[in-house]
Amino acid sequence: MIIRKMAIADYRQVYDLWMACAGMGLNDVDDSESGVRRFLERNPETCFVSLDESGQAPTGDITGVIMAGNDGRRGYIYHTAVAPDHRHQGIASLLVQHACSAFKDLGISKVALVAFSSNLAGNSFWERQGFSLRDDLAYRNLALQRLNRLDT
Ligand SMILES: CC(C)(COP(=O)(O)OP(=O)(O)OC[C@H]1O[C@@H](n2cnc3c(N)ncnc32)[C@H](O)[C@@H]1OP(=O)(O)O)[C@@H](O)C(=O)NCCC(=O)NCCS
Repeated sequence: MIIRKMAIADYRQVYDLWMACAGMGLNDVDDSESGVRRFLERNPETCFVSLDESGQAPTGDITGVIMAGNDGRRGYIYHTAVAPDHRHQGIASLLVQHACSAFKDLGISKVALVAFSSNLAGNSFWERQGFSLRDDLAYRNLALQRLNRLDT
């Protein structure tokens, strides 16, 4: 198994992999090819894929993916996924290690992520990786498409 940085050329295989996984919260904007391209351009050092050297994986050669990015202060992890028939082999753990090591190299000291509370397996995985649950915080967001631009 090989782990390398993700490139936009991986998009179709990665998208198919996400679609094969329950528990992924995909949307038409951020997870479109242009959305992923934009994320990779901003975060070229911290997104990784795993590859099956045998070339037998049903979604092509890519067996796992992690999208990780930072805003200069915090690292954030999105859409970690491993193909169903490649799970429990330590692939996601290795992807997390690569992303966290790359964050450290960039001087980022804390990493966060959001998971659906209903994704028990995903949350067990993150607990095992050392990502503690913050039950003192409320997660809030705002869809900016609904806001009008300011006339300047
Ligand atoms: C969560 C996921 C990425 C884990 O991938 P993986 O390559 O199987 O993970 P690892 O082999 O590195 O697992 C490391 C440890 O995490 C825990 N873990 C992994 N999958 C788990 C599961 N389904 N239930 C409970 N614990 C789990 C285990 O302790 C595991 O150790 P084990 O190999 O002895 O079972 C994978 O199941 C997946 O793609 N799920 C669907 C997408 C998803 O939910 N992603 C997370 C979004 S928040």
